[in-house]
Amino acid sequence: MILGATGLLGQALMREWTEDEVIGLSSRQVDIRDQRKVRERVESIRPDWIVLAAAYADVDGCETNQESAFAVNRDGAAHVAEAASALGAKLLFISSDYVFDGTKTSPYEAGDSRNPLGVYGRSKAEAEMRLLDLMPECCIARTSWLFGTGGKCFPDTILKLAATQPALDVVNDQHGCPTYSIDLARAIIQLCRKGAKGIVHVTNAESCTWFEFAQEIVKQSGLGTEVRNITTQQMPRPARRPAYSVLSSASLEPFGIKMPRWQDALARYLRERTL
Ligand SMILES: NC(=O)c1ccc[n+]([C@@H]2O[C@H](COP(=O)([O-])OP(=O)(O)OC[C@H]3O[C@@H](n4cnc5c(N)ncnc54)[C@H](OP(=O)(O)O)[C@@H]3O)[C@@H](O)[C@H]2O)c1
Repeated sequence: MILGATGLLGQALMREWTEDEVIGLSSRQVDIRDQRKVRERVESIRPDWIVLAAAYADVDGCETNQESAFAVNRDGAAHVAEAASALGAKLLFISSDYVFDGTKTSPYEAGDSRNPLGVYGRSKAEAEMRLLDLMPECCIARTSWLFGTGGKCFPDTILKLAATQPALDVVNDQHGCPTYSIDLARAIIQLCRKGAKGIVHVTNAESCTWFEFAQEIVKQSGLGTEVRNITTQQMPRPARRPAYSVLSSASLEPFGIKMPRWQDALARYLRERTL
């Protein structure tokens, strides 16, 4: 059972998960804020696994809609964990690199302390803690900088801007790991097959800044758009973001899952986008 099946990751999961019977639900089919509905849905479907990809994932939007952020990301996740636990279903929850404050200078390990800078990160961090309390055997897969077809994402925005502007300003002081929804979906399927428990970091391999990511998007697309590097201070956003949220792959290695480099993932995304 996939909650959030209409989202960027959810669509990739629905496409990639071909070997089992998979039921995907959108917010219209079940709003995870509604504890009773969640329980009813889980009881009627009786899934072996629930992948909770549903979220209020608009990082800036969460700053102005704090109530919704916590209602969906934290309380909604707890409703799903309670229902899963009552029925003996396994749960994999998708979390985020934004649970960290970005003060480290080497990749974040799964056991590093959470210290989110914004509301979105806080709602995810509190969800993680509630889930580990309610269901210690659940799996929490943290990912970052998600891109893919079927929704808004950074490469899509850059390509749309590059089509109309001769130069783009992109921040060069936030470091992270871009992650292709298809590669993440494949890794999640593997994690479920292997009965994963605990916190696992799942991103494409290697890191970059948003500026470097934009440069590579423009280069691989064969565009002549100039990409100029700026600082976060020069482009203020409602939510504070970690300067460094690179996630270590050490927690993924025991499952025998090796993620492709983000540059390779980007090339596949760009091909998929033109189909
Ligand atoms: N995007 C990123 O860069 C990023 C980075 C790190 C982690 N993540 C996490 O990765 C997961 C997937 O993100 P995404 O980018 O695929 O998200 P997305 O494209 O914004 O999709 C969100 C999904 O959640 C559903 N949803 C929203 N509110 C809901 C509610 N109240 N009840 C039930 N379903 C609800 C939406 O359903 P409708 O279509 O019906 O609205 C949609 O299917 C999320 O947990 C997100 O926090 C994302």
